[in-house]
Amino acid sequence: MTEQAAASGRRAVREPAAAARVGGGSPGSGTAVVGLQWGDEGKGKVIDLLADGFDAVVRYNGGANAGHSVVIDGVRHALHLVPSGVFRPRCRPVIANGVVVDPIALVSELAGLVKAGVDVSDVALSDRAHLVMPYHKEEDGLRERALSAGRSGAAEDEVAEDRSIGTTKRGIGPAYAEKANRSTAVRARDLLDPAELRRKVHDACALRGPLFERLGGDPPDVDAIAEAVLEAGTTLRPHITDTVYLLHEMLGAGKRLLFEGANATLLDVDHGTYPFVTSSNCSVLGIPAGTGVPPHRIGAVTGVLKAYGTRVGAGPFPTEQAGEVGDRIREAGNEYGTTTGRPRRCGWLDLVAARYAAMLNGTTTLAVMLLDVLAGLDELRVCTAYRVGGEETGRFPADARALERVEPVYETMAGFAGEVTTATSLSDLPPGARVYLDRIEEYVGVPVGIVSVGPDRAQTIEV
Ligand code: IMP
Repeated sequence: MTEQAAASGRRAVREPAAAARVGGGSPGSGTAVVGLQWGDEGKGKVIDLLADGFDAVVRYNGGANAGHSVVIDGVRHALHLVPSGVFRPRCRPVIANGVVVDPIALVSELAGLVKAGVDVSDVALSDRAHLVMPYHKEEDGLRERALSAGRSGAAEDEVAEDRSIGTTKRGIGPAYAEKANRSTAVRARDLLDPAELRRKVHDACALRGPLFERLGGDPPDVDAIAEAVLEAGTTLRPHITDTVYLLHEMLGAGKRLLFEGANATLLDVDHGTYPFVTSSNCSVLGIPAGTGVPPHRIGAVTGVLKAYGTRVGAGPFPTEQAGEVGDRIREAGNEYGTTTGRPRRCGWLDLVAARYAAMLNGTTTLAVMLLDVLAGLDELRVCTAYRVGGEETGRFPADARALERVEPVYETMAGFAGEVTTATSLSDLPPGARVYLDRIEEYVGVPVGIVSVGPDRAQTIEV
């Protein structure tokens, strides 16, 4: 970033004293921040808090299905593709090769940031990153509709069982499938070669035409798509670079990298609640492939855990509370999707799932978020085991069907009341809240390093 950009500021911000001291990583290493549940844990806030101690914030997975919110001085910024570190001067936002990038959405997100006075000139986009094309989004929607209960074209004698995933319809699955299919996949570097891009778009559309018609859609318009994407490419051109060399050069120069996990561990395509997952490796395990940085460079891992459970889309959620408790959490926590606006399913904290996710990521610190949302509930429950066929287990099962069959075993604690949102240290918290945090730490076996008691940067406790 230019000096001018640093001075004009991505913005000057009020610093909570805590944020500058938490994290930072050691020179020449990477630190990861990942969600330990089904997403929406508050990773954006944690990354934004930590980013000042780092030289780059690197997205390595997912696409515009992610929605990270950062609240600065009461103003809420929603990010989908741009790394959350964009609000910090001297911290380079890098979209690495493992991300699937909707070029039209990225251009519009960058424009929104510029309008808000944010300098985006040093956002780096990997030349290897695959592009989410308009036909991927269309395919995502058509597939979901075809697999849902009221699907069109289902034979009369078919049982209309809902097999949809409840995706964000941002084209994530079809784009990763295209990447695996190879010859028709479009990468960011193709934006620099219009003839090659047009050829790929032509082939990809030709293969899709009959499928789209069969599913009740229109065949994709090759020329319109190619031109719209190439137009986005003219804006993105200065950002496209070889981020593998960029990141290795930074590490070699002793710089610190912060890896920003999008989506979350229980949505990981290999280790989550398959098939109700997203299509990338959202855990720390996705970092090496998604960036080109080898695993031994990853030092600390902050696992972000909401103080209760939420989930959007379909799939098992053993601790879901469909009634009063769930509604109360949804309203107090404003649990509506950043990307789609869908109401989130809400429930108690599942410690069995949290411990599994912490284990997979090699988590070194926990950040417990949205603790304030639980204030005022008479009692709190945490799930400490699953009962399966009369037996209790502390293990998280391998797939969704098995998880659907478990019965959660709860531990009940007294609720806490009083002012939580102004706490600046653990001793400011009501005793009940401290007992709750202690239980999380003890069960998961990882120390709590950050507690968030409100959306603003300043509402953060460093432990
Ligand atoms: P997709 O990633 O759009 O294919 O959606 C697959 C599943 O992951 C759906 O249940 C989505 O609701 C969920 N999902 C994807 N990204 C996020 C996220 O960032 N937060 C929460 N849920 C997500």
